[in-house]
Amino acid sequence: MVHSSAPDDDATPKVSRRLFLKSAGASAAATSLTSLANAAPPAPVVLGPGPVPLSLKINGTLHKLEVEPRVTLLRALRNQLDLTGAKEVCDRGACGACTVLLDGRPVNACLLLAIDAEGHEITTVEGLGTPEALSPVQAAFVECDALQCGFCTPGFVVSATALLKQVPRPSLDQIKAGLAGNLCRCGTYGRVFEAVQKAAAHTPQPRPGATSPRG
Ligand code: FES
Ligand code: FES
Repeated sequence: MVHSSAPDDDATPKVSRRLFLKSAGASAAATSLTSLANAAPPAPVVLGPGPVPLSLKINGTLHKLEVEPRVTLLRALRNQLDLTGAKEVCDRGACGACTVLLDGRPVNACLLLAIDAEGHEITTVEGLGTPEALSPVQAAFVECDALQCGFCTPGFVVSATALLKQVPRPSLDQIKAGLAGNLCRCGTYGRVFEAVQKAAAHTPQPRPGATSPRG
């Protein structure tokens, strides 16, 4: 009878080389995932408080300027670029006198930081037409005498331009809704609405079958 001093085969844990490598790999992956999860998030980029360089595309021209990050687009336009068409009246988004187009959509420039306008197409009332070649909306405001003090007028002209781009033949109710963000303290609303209707008459007809985004 032969006695062996080797341990009983059934009692020995069976760990193959492959299994060992797999577990080691999984453990290493888990460790690195944990380290990733515990890693501090990258520090946010802090701009300011001093002026930062900025490029703004306004009326088709790229302007390079330096502004403090707290500066609104309205202040940058008026104070640094001498584009004073957009007016500062309430400076809190209530009157629409500062309306400009951002990628074709009307926005209150007093509520938008200049740094947030970088990379967008900005159009001010100066970019719609010139004194020698007024845009249809500008010409209609003149023809209809749609202003008194005129302070609200650039904002109305910009909003009306955006409206007619979306709804070339607006009803009176659509005009009122489209200009609801613009206030006229002189109360020239009747003539403003008339001017928009007149400009609409000079706006190219929508293609047959085309639907308005506003219904
Ligand atoms: S000045 Fe911007 S909404 Fe009044
Ligand atoms: S014309 Fe004076 S505020 Fe509108």
